[in-house]
Amino acid sequence: MVSAKFEVYRFDPAKDAAPHYDQYSLEMAAHTPVLTALLRIRSEVDPSLTLRYSCRSAICGSCAMQVNSKSRLACETQVGPEMERNGRIVVEPMRNQAVLRDLVVDQEPFWRQYDKIQPHLILDPRHPMPEGKENPMTPAQVERFHETPRCIACAACFSACPAVEADPGFPGPMALAKLYRFVVDPRDQAHQARLLAIQPGGLWTCLRCHLCTEACPKDVRPSERIRDLKEMAIRVQGATENGSRHAVGFKENIRERGVLSEAKLVRQTSGIAGMVGQLGQGVRIYRKKPEILKSPHPIEGLDEVRKIYAALDHPEGDPP
Ligand code: FES
Repeated sequence: MVSAKFEVYRFDPAKDAAPHYDQYSLEMAAHTPVLTALLRIRSEVDPSLTLRYSCRSAICGSCAMQVNSKSRLACETQVGPEMERNGRIVVEPMRNQAVLRDLVVDQEPFWRQYDKIQPHLILDPRHPMPEGKENPMTPAQVERFHETPRCIACAACFSACPAVEADPGFPGPMALAKLYRFVVDPRDQAHQARLLAIQPGGLWTCLRCHLCTEACPKDVRPSERIRDLKEMAIRVQGATENGSRHAVGFKENIRERGVLSEAKLVRQTSGIAGMVGQLGQGVRIYRKKPEILKSPHPIEGLDEVRKIYAALDHPEGDPP
């Protein structure tokens, strides 16, 4: 048994001027899920506590919330380990979505972004599937989905994403992982259009922080699929905007000397016109740390770096 101490976010916009935290202490088995504890609080202490849940088995995705500042499913997060790590259990609603009441958020922004990527097969009406026929995929084709079909749309990734917080127009990790799933589906006939439609802000706003992958309770690994989409977008369209130019420039920059030339990267990313726009910032950097703007000397062992590039550019079985 563990003596669990909860601090639960409470906010009723009809009554409260501002959110506050209520504290509860309960004795319970260490393996008790946080969701079960909250339901106990609701039935034994405070029937007004509002939360969303359904399956209680990590299947429906309804119970995502913040437990000790991490976006998690409350039904699969156990009380004991949280108490051991933090000495208390702070429960808050998901981030990046407006709170409706207590732990319930308005998921409209999350679902709006999902709808935008058209999460269904787009077929060419000029080539309709013959009636009664199926369009099976090979096991190798199914493998290209990676773990994306496991997604339960719990929005934990959306809650954890700093790019969503900074730019509400960013689709978010779940929508992009779903987009990836349709882009690699051989039955879908809008691959290129999907990739072009999602750029520029839709893809390159991702900060590569991997917090979505850390938050995902189903190991969908959205950040890895966003990386794949970026690579595909460069293959389809080339490096046509700041985000993709930065990625390609960074790679070429390191290939050249084995170390980053910051000034050159700014030019590779923004072009001469962009550099002029950043002149003031450049002068401030130069005054504080002039060495940053100097061309670095090639590192020792540059040959080894170039061997890595050669291996990445021409993986085994892919002749140079
Ligand atoms: S209640 Fe369904 S995932 Fe937690």
